[in-house]
Amino acid sequence: MSDMIDFNSDTAKALERVYLTPDVVGQRARVLAELSLKHGDAVLDVGVGPGLLAYDMALTVGDTGKVAGIDVADAMLAMTGERCKDLPQCDFRKGDACALPFDEGAFDALVSTQVYEYVPDMDKAAAEIARVLKPGGRAVILDTAWDSLVLNARDRGLSRRVLEVWDEHLVHPNLPAKLSPVLERAGLQVLRIEMIPMFSPHYQTHSYAAGMLRMITNFVSGRSGVSENEAKAWYDDLMAGADRGDFFFCLNRYMFLAVKK
Ligand SMILES: C[S@@+](CC[C@H](N)C(=O)[O-])C[C@H]1O[C@@H](n2cnc3c(N)ncnc32)[C@H](O)[C@@H]1O
Repeated sequence: MSDMIDFNSDTAKALERVYLTPDVVGQRARVLAELSLKHGDAVLDVGVGPGLLAYDMALTVGDTGKVAGIDVADAMLAMTGERCKDLPQCDFRKGDACALPFDEGAFDALVSTQVYEYVPDMDKAAAEIARVLKPGGRAVILDTAWDSLVLNARDRGLSRRVLEVWDEHLVHPNLPAKLSPVLERAGLQVLRIEMIPMFSPHYQTHSYAAGMLRMITNFVSGRSGVSENEAKAWYDDLMAGADRGDFFFCLNRYMFLAVKK
């Protein structure tokens, strides 16, 4: 756990940049559509992060609705609070996905994107989703399957080692593969699972791929047997591919729609 990524103010700024790329803007639109929020709905964002989705949801539910958000990280709460400061329907609190600070049946909908992969006790977190939703309430959950990452790295051995060490940044590197039974056990019915690829067949500076390759390099550098030079060599090799015109990045995220029975 202590080796996981630190959601401090530098990470918050780096994530905000990545989450403003067209890839993630498009993902957010799909999440919002799947949530089907109505004017006046009460929705909870678990692991609200930089607050980009919370802001969009607040405009959707309007001033008769409610957008609550929790996060364990102060830097994230500061960023989301600043972004939504003029929206009185927002209520952000420090809290953990495994102990949501809300009453039973408080929400019409719940969303959590890129959060449960960091939460060790998924059974407890899923029970909390079911507890705070009204009967028939919708949950939209999105996480990444890191085993799906395909890169055009020349040194495949080094690339495998780098990505193995990157797996240390979270607790469930492939949560989507095992999420459905966890949700069903908690009393949620999984209605649909869709794949959202983060796909860059060419290098673009303002892309999810570019931002993540920088984050991966910074995280693995000097960690668990990957030296700073090796991390730099891995990154430089991929960037040389970008210059040659044979860059490739594809990573699959999965969006689950579930309802409380
Ligand atoms: C990768 S960010 C995603 C942020 C946001 N959901 C988004 O998609 O823009 C992960 C967030 O989950 C938060 N987080 C990690 N573990 C958590 C936990 N146990 N309970 C609540 N939030 C958590 C982090 O602080 C961070 O803000």
